Amino acid sequence: MTATVAPPDAVAMREAMGRFATGVTVVTTVDADGRPAGCTISAFCSLSLDPPLVLVCVGRGRRMHALLAAAPGFAVNVLAAHQRDVATAFARTPHDRFAGLATRPGRAGARLLDGAVAHIECDRETVLDGGDHAIVVGLVRAVTTFPGEPLLYARGAFLDLPGPAWDRAAAGAPPAGAPHEWLLSAPW
Ligand SMILES: Cc1cc2nc3c(=O)[nH]c(=O)nc-3n(C[C@H](O)[C@H](O)[C@H](O)COP(=O)(O)O)c2cc1C
Repeated sequence: MTATVAPPDAVAMREAMGRFATGVTVVTTVDADGRPAGCTISAFCSLSLDPPLVLVCVGRGRRMHALLAAAPGFAVNVLAAHQRDVATAFARTPHDRFAGLATRPGRAGARLLDGAVAHIECDRETVLDGGDHAIVVGLVRAVTTFPGEPLLYARGAFLDLPGPAWDRAAAGAPPAGAPHEWLLSAPW
């Protein structure tokens, strides 16, 4: 156990924040010439149901920060458990990250990735200060969901869900270990 009362250093912050498991998304948009762009983002969150808002946090030094701050909108592709390679590819240079991937254009040209478990298409609502990151808030204009389990990420590693219990639970017959109904109906 490591406890600290002093401001945490970057290593301590990463260790603590890594304990918070997330899903993994690829956020896509277009550049000024209409070319597709995208990067892997785990700092994605549902923000509001009415109006429907989501947020993504992107590093200020990133190319994606400049693109998201300028583009009229973006798409959040929630990755499926089998898309670890996609998550890795969209975190790497060079920026030709769409090579070999099946996609289709969504609103305003932001690419929608085949195989994702959800597509969330947004207009950019606002960009807020978040220290060395920016908080990009999107007004959700369209959502599409697909069968399958989401990819999980914690402590710097990709994780698997235990099995197809989530789909069975969503169909109305929660087996042992499946999420509680009140969790499935909650906005978060
Ligand atoms: C699993 C995973 C999660 C990530 N989450 C974020 C994130 O939430 N915000 C962020 O700015 N970068 C995140 N990254 C890093 C970016 O994907 C990476 O820096 C990418 O190169 C940024 O794209 P860009 O250089 O085109 O801006 C993550 C990478 C991985 C592998």
